[in-house]
Amino acid sequence: MSSDMSPDLLQPKALRNAFGNFGTGVALIGVLDAQDKAVGLTINSFASVSLEPALLSWCLAKDSQLFDAITRADRFSVNILAATQTELSNRMAMPGDHRFDDTEWTASAKGGVFVNDALAKFDCRPHQTIEAGDHVVFLGAIEEAWACSHSRAPLVYFRGGYRQLLGDD
Ligand SMILES: Cc1cc2nc3c(=O)[nH]c(=O)nc-3n(C[C@H](O)[C@H](O)[C@H](O)COP(=O)(O)O)c2cc1C
Repeated sequence: MSSDMSPDLLQPKALRNAFGNFGTGVALIGVLDAQDKAVGLTINSFASVSLEPALLSWCLAKDSQLFDAITRADRFSVNILAATQTELSNRMAMPGDHRFDDTEWTASAKGGVFVNDALAKFDCRPHQTIEAGDHVVFLGAIEEAWACSHSRAPLVYFRGGYRQLLGDD
């Protein structure tokens, strides 16, 4: 076994650092809580899963303050953030008040929480949840999708910080 494969790399902090080498976009999960208030959670575990049927996935930490609100909700949205939305991303990644201001979101056709100015938005019905260690994997059946028609820079996360995407499309 090479020193790079040391079992110490399986310790949570080291593993988090190793996972952090996978550069990702950043998204906000949006749900209505028990008081019908729109709340959000910053994630980077989003993945596209299936085109037919339309499915996506993401993972929720079991110790999240929003665990009950999200697992009880009858729908959730996934909102892919733009580079201009770091403040919102930071706010929704902090323990504490996860409520959106009324100016920050708009209801989808079925009443989901669509975050204003996001690059793409998916309104989902929970399709399946899978217990997975300290997280729960959510599969969402996408009922409405929206994508920005012009090119805007995405919010990118890599090795514990936000990055600029080099180049232009
Ligand atoms: C870039 C980034 C990505 C994150 N990805 C996830 C994720 O995929 N799943 C998750 O449960 N938490 C994720 N988090 C952490 C939550 O946003 C954060 O722990 C949570 O909001 C803390 O507050 P809470 O305990 O009130 O949920 C991420 C945080 C950041 C900054």
